[in-house]
Amino acid sequence: MIRDLTDEEARAALVLKWGMTDPDVLPAWVAEMDYAVADVVTEAVVDAVRAGRTGYPAFEFGGELGQAYADWAGRHLDQSVDPDHVVPVVDVTAGMRLALDVLCEDAPVVMPIPAYSPQLEIAQVTGRRRVNLVVDVDDERSGIDLDSLDRHFAAGARTLILTQPHNPWGRVFTRPELEGIRDVVALHGARVVSDEIWAPLVLPGAEHTSYLAVDGTAQHAVALVAASKAFNIAGLKCAQIVTGDDETRDRLFAVPMARNDSWSTIGVVAAIAAYDQGDPWLKALLQRLDEQRTLLAELLAAELPEARMRRVEGTYLAWIDLRAYGHRNPARVCLERGLVRLSAGHEFHPGAAGHVRLNFATSPERLREIVHRMATALAA
Ligand SMILES: Cc1ncc(COP(=O)(O)O)c(C=O)c1O
Repeated sequence: MIRDLTDEEARAALVLKWGMTDPDVLPAWVAEMDYAVADVVTEAVVDAVRAGRTGYPAFEFGGELGQAYADWAGRHLDQSVDPDHVVPVVDVTAGMRLALDVLCEDAPVVMPIPAYSPQLEIAQVTGRRRVNLVVDVDDERSGIDLDSLDRHFAAGARTLILTQPHNPWGRVFTRPELEGIRDVVALHGARVVSDEIWAPLVLPGAEHTSYLAVDGTAQHAVALVAASKAFNIAGLKCAQIVTGDDETRDRLFAVPMARNDSWSTIGVVAAIAAYDQGDPWLKALLQRLDEQRTLLAELLAAELPEARMRRVEGTYLAWIDLRAYGHRNPARVCLERGLVRLSAGHEFHPGAAGHVRLNFATSPERLREIVHRMATALAA
């Protein structure tokens, strides 16, 4: 069911990941997969365009999209979501800005670091200060330190940006961990904006719990979700904010039209198709990603035995410690000497020299070649 794109297809389809990488370089950077889009999604989009559904989207919360997401969350996360608590937004990043602007106090925002790099600036874009909560991601468990969180709130921060499952460390927080976070947040009357874009891509061995599914979070949190990472449809532009109550939903939906970065009609069509009809494809995808995760560990053990990779619990992004090879910026070394493009660790955490993030959502053959090129480059 999962069809690998050829290099030519990938270059034409993935205009950022492949299109903006030199033709002789193998791209393993941007979080997109080298797989053909699920047929059910393609067909829904083609049918919609043929039917002329190219105008404005319905301006509504809930609706068919809210129902599709609620049904999906019920089946996959065993979570009860009120369809009317689902608000469309153009993408997760815009949804996070909106949530910060509309719901969060004008006060510092706690950001666990390393973080998804575009979000490093998001507090500042909304006029707030970011305070870092640095996590030791080389530590096996690497959770959010509750004492540090408590100190940041005590010093005036009012919001926590939670990303779970986490990019780039691949952690999936457990329910007890989330409950611990909830207790500290509740104690300070603070808020959580929980980025759960990776929730559909939790690999065997881990289980995703939405922060909103933890008791006592409904009034202080929103979750940002989307089908975009799991179904490779980020360019179609439709994500969702899930709220825990009507009041939060109404505040988000009442923003002036001028504030609203509207989502796309085709994006709504694609998201509904993915949520309603994408289960068999998603199952096959998770199996493939699980195999790729295992293969990557084997390849690293054979070709780069000094590399230390965190166990990837969710996402298709591996966080790899290459400090033993002695380069401050191994991503650059791999690009220049090995012609393989990785993301540099310091993009996610200025202090994380010697690390890379590797996207393994590709074919086994390409993954072998990626690791081989890395090994050649780093050994040179
Ligand atoms: C944690 C996280 N949040 C958000 C995004 C981007 O989402 P969007 O394109 O919907 O803004 C990504 C993309 O990889 C991500 O990893």
